[in-house]
Amino acid sequence: MRKFLVAGNWKMHGSRASVAALVEGLLEQGTMPCQTLICPPVIFFDQLQRQLVGSSIGLGAQNLDWHDSGAYTGEVSAAMVLEFGCSHVLVGHSERRSLFGESDAQVGLKVEKCLSSGLTPVICIGESLAQRQADETFAVVQRQLDAVIRQVGVTALRHSIIAYEPVWAIGTGESATPEQAERVHAQIRQYLAKQDESLSQNIQLLYGGSVNGENAADLFAQENIDGALVGGASLKVDDFLRICRAAV
Ligand code: 13P
Repeated sequence: MRKFLVAGNWKMHGSRASVAALVEGLLEQGTMPCQTLICPPVIFFDQLQRQLVGSSIGLGAQNLDWHDSGAYTGEVSAAMVLEFGCSHVLVGHSERRSLFGESDAQVGLKVEKCLSSGLTPVICIGESLAQRQADETFAVVQRQLDAVIRQVGVTALRHSIIAYEPVWAIGTGESATPEQAERVHAQIRQYLAKQDESLSQNIQLLYGGSVNGENAADLFAQENIDGALVGGASLKVDDFLRICRAAV
């Protein structure tokens, strides 16, 4: 039986004060109703690691460099995030791919580094609007998945999470319908089943793209949706909690 996971991707938002207030609001509710992860900018890791002591909320990074250390200005290593209690890393988010030129091959290297460091990669995949309109949705998703599988092998995905995030649904307020999302999730699971049946049954497949307190329950009712990667709504205590409660 797969567990639900709700992960908040805070992107480049927050200040010392707003981050403290947001987490205080979450902690006031007591134990989180489902497995919960927040992915703040790494600059807040120290502050949040202290604030999250004794809580079930996990800490994730939004990105990672695949080198151990060295002259890589602006980058952050696996060892660095581990030192601050980080357990998960978003890898290959569409904003990293489109705005920062991250390639499929680099995503593979980052996943490999996560796995060899004991971090769980949340591998983000998804098509653009033009690709969907050209009926290329699964071809794109498959290409992105294959690049990772080529690098680490399919079995390594046992320690990974996949987030299907159609680019056209990110930050637009226009979520994929539960049926649209479920269709792609089922295709991903079937594709993985051809290579490793038990992996395909156990791997968590999150949906991301304009998930909010209103639409989460319908998305989570789908057979192959095991949670959400939430952007904008993860910055609001009430919305984020509503999504987490829908995941029970
Ligand atoms: P929104 O929930 O703001 O659409 O963002 C989704 C996302 O990119 C999560 O990684």
